[in-house]
Amino acid sequence: MSISDYERQERIQFDPEGYELSTLAVRSGQHRSLEGEHSDPIYPTSSYVFSSAREAAARFGGDEKGNIYSRFTNPTVQFFEERIAAMEGGERAVATASGMAAILSTCLSLMQNGDHVVCSRSVFGSTVSLFEKYLSRTGISTTFVDPTNIASWEEAIQPETKMLFLETPSNPLAELTDVEALSVVAKKHDLLLVVDNCFCTPVLQQPLKQGADIVIHSATKYLDGQGRCVGGVVVGNDKHMEEVFGFIRTGGACLSPFNAWVFLKGLETLKLRMDAHCKNAMEMARWLEQQDGIERVFYSGLESHAQHDLAKRQQTGFGGVLSFEVKGGQEAAWKFIDATQMISITGNLGDVKTTITHPATTTHGRMTPEARAEAGVHDNLIRLSVGIEDINDIKADMLLGLAAI
Ligand SMILES: Cc1ncc(COP(=O)(O)O)c(C=O)c1O
Repeated sequence: MSISDYERQERIQFDPEGYELSTLAVRSGQHRSLEGEHSDPIYPTSSYVFSSAREAAARFGGDEKGNIYSRFTNPTVQFFEERIAAMEGGERAVATASGMAAILSTCLSLMQNGDHVVCSRSVFGSTVSLFEKYLSRTGISTTFVDPTNIASWEEAIQPETKMLFLETPSNPLAELTDVEALSVVAKKHDLLLVVDNCFCTPVLQQPLKQGADIVIHSATKYLDGQGRCVGGVVVGNDKHMEEVFGFIRTGGACLSPFNAWVFLKGLETLKLRMDAHCKNAMEMARWLEQQDGIERVFYSGLESHAQHDLAKRQQTGFGGVLSFEVKGGQEAAWKFIDATQMISITGNLGDVKTTITHPATTTHGRMTPEARAEAGVHDNLIRLSVGIEDINDIKADMLLGLAAI
């Protein structure tokens, strides 16, 4: 390398210290190569070449830093990890193949046979299945509790409890947990507090700064934001992340460099998109509350929401997802969904396109009817992930749904 090559490399070592979130979203995790590219490069390679057998042995033996194999590390994946860690305010992030892989890896790397989890009963359906059906086989047991009631969390703690797990706001009923208050309980009992921050993203809420130990994302949702890729990430301190990294490196649920690159691009526009999602969702929630045919609207931005004050304190915005109950049962809900034309009927959320879902028969369909009833996911409930289309066009489509019931 010439002197100017070295100087150029020096220039792009971005130090995130002191920068605001919008800047971190576009600048952190940037490692320009000697080609001088302005956009982050993709490294689609499965392995890396060593200059000698000695160097290969040193890398494998851990005596020398550097890439070995893309199941372990990949530069593009590392850029994404650095950027999301900076945005969440964590020491380190570990990217995973999906949001579920992020949850599984966190649990299997930080717990063992005989450990116990206290989990919010209002979490994503697959998360419930993971705890109930699969982690139970490894000897990790779970108690589900009302996420809104801090006393119920503490009452469920046993001598074997290792982790408290929650989503806030929850999917699909927008129930909130006071993270700061729960972190006091977690510290008192020496437990890991893990928060799935999928719905808020670091733009609206940074749980690590509120006392959580670990933040998890399904990057498939808002971090991508345009429904292109499946992926996940875990963020926390170096000690915990070394364990999660060790599990991913061995277990193999790693993120592909292409997906990491898409998420890097997604993060660059995250703040703008979240602002637009929040604005449209707020207007939609207020509008739905006034419509005949709607029984209840669940959105933490509404004054009618039982935890509106907590949402104002804990979040800097109310998010893009709301749910509502229609008058009638499942038949009415399905009629409503089928009558919409522009809105996409799909299980995904956090997309720039508005999406509509019937949780009881899709995302939460694998839960038992009793668990669904307990979680408040009734047959007449519809979830709307409000996109960034013109709000009047979304309303016009929703009117078709209302007219059908
Ligand atoms: C809150 C939440 N967490 C985790 C997941 C799982 O993520 P993935 O589908 O990327 O595995 C989802 C998926 O819908 C989700 O809504």
